[in-house]
Amino acid sequence: MDKIRVRGGKQLQGILHVSGAKNAVLPAMAASLLTSEPIVLENSPQVRDVSTMIRVLQRMGALEPQREGSRLTLRVPKIASAEAPYELVKTMRASVLVLGPLLARCGEARVSLPGGCAIGARPVNLHIMALQKLGARIEVEHGYMVAEGRELKGADISFDSKTVTGTENLMMAATRAQGRTVLRNVAQEPEIEDLAELLNRMGAKVSGAGTEIIVIDGVDELHGAVHPVIPDRIEAGTFLMAAAITRSAVKVENCRPNHLDAVLEKLRDVGVRMEVGPSAIQVVPDGPLRPGNLVTLPYPGFPTDLQAQYMALATQAGGSSLITESIFENRFMHVGELRRMGAHIDIDAHFAVVHGPTPLTGAQVMATDLRASASLIVAGLLAEGETIIDRAYHIDRGYERIEEKLQKVGADIQRIH
Ligand code: EPU
Repeated sequence: MDKIRVRGGKQLQGILHVSGAKNAVLPAMAASLLTSEPIVLENSPQVRDVSTMIRVLQRMGALEPQREGSRLTLRVPKIASAEAPYELVKTMRASVLVLGPLLARCGEARVSLPGGCAIGARPVNLHIMALQKLGARIEVEHGYMVAEGRELKGADISFDSKTVTGTENLMMAATRAQGRTVLRNVAQEPEIEDLAELLNRMGAKVSGAGTEIIVIDGVDELHGAVHPVIPDRIEAGTFLMAAAITRSAVKVENCRPNHLDAVLEKLRDVGVRMEVGPSAIQVVPDGPLRPGNLVTLPYPGFPTDLQAQYMALATQAGGSSLITESIFENRFMHVGELRRMGAHIDIDAHFAVVHGPTPLTGAQVMATDLRASASLIVAGLLAEGETIIDRAYHIDRGYERIEEKLQKVGADIQRIH
């Protein structure tokens, strides 16, 4: 199993280029199930979750995908099997995104229930409830969601709480339902807007994405499209934390600063100086870091996917920072590992108090999920001595060649086999 070794204490300098967003490309790939024509996704990142989604789609009849650099072409001439098996879904929960498009394209789907995961229980009850309101019959049998609905009908559906992939599943299912679907209290993440843009390029009629109400008028057929995937705001945010913790002059390029408003505001609050352009953010080394409280919230709030990386940064602030995780019930797995590196963090349920500044020292640590491993890299870049992060496959799920990107700006970081 690969590990990542970081020797900390190096100042970084130069440009970090952000790849396409993992959480935008995965629903876009699932959307290729909606048509027999090719879907071309530009700016798609080469990460493990994309490879897993390719395997899921190939099970369903997708042809061998074509990749030229970051351009990924997918084509599903016909649905050969409407089943997403447990062995794939258990490795990537986002596989559940095939449920909506399969129902829309062929009126049936058999998708394994994902089960719990390292960061929380993560049920899919809201996906099921909403699809049932479109007229799908869904039973849970032997660990699978067995769905049938040859004639989905538009409906007025209100989500009890915001769900990103739940919203995406419904958007895709409703593109080919009869009549109008109104989705209320939906997630507003930029990845939702990106999916709406792709669906509209495919001939769908989706409006309101990015607000709390999305309206979809069903159409008979969707066709192929070429679509540029938005830059990964979480990768960009991770790079900003890496620059801030090492007090480095780094430019984070190919990002959408307007997708990072809450993150930039928080970083400024704690004393990180940045110059923001239309598609780049330059971090300018400045004075000491101040403590700053944080609550993770659905977009446009501060993303849960950057909470762990912010926590690493907060270990260097002069005072106590209260971090509240309000999205997932178990997303503090990195705390034990950061403590082993010298951090002083108390946790109680959804709350963590980080007392800083504490010197960090390199240690052998364990990656428990994707963003936890990113926070250990951020901490390792500053820590004195060597940090060895075990289970590097977690980081590869969502960051494209992170060690190569960081090496280019002067970090001492290697993958070891
Ligand atoms: N929830 C329910 N019932 C449902 C669906 C969600 O109770 O049917 C709860 C969840 O348990 C959670 C909250 O609602 O407490 C929000 O979950 P959401 O459904 O929004 O999460 P998701 O769609 O499964 C996506 C991202 C995650 C990211 C979350 C929150 C993708 C593929 N995944 O997950 O990304 O953390 O939204 O922003 O888009 C990551 O990239 O590391 C990652 C975990």
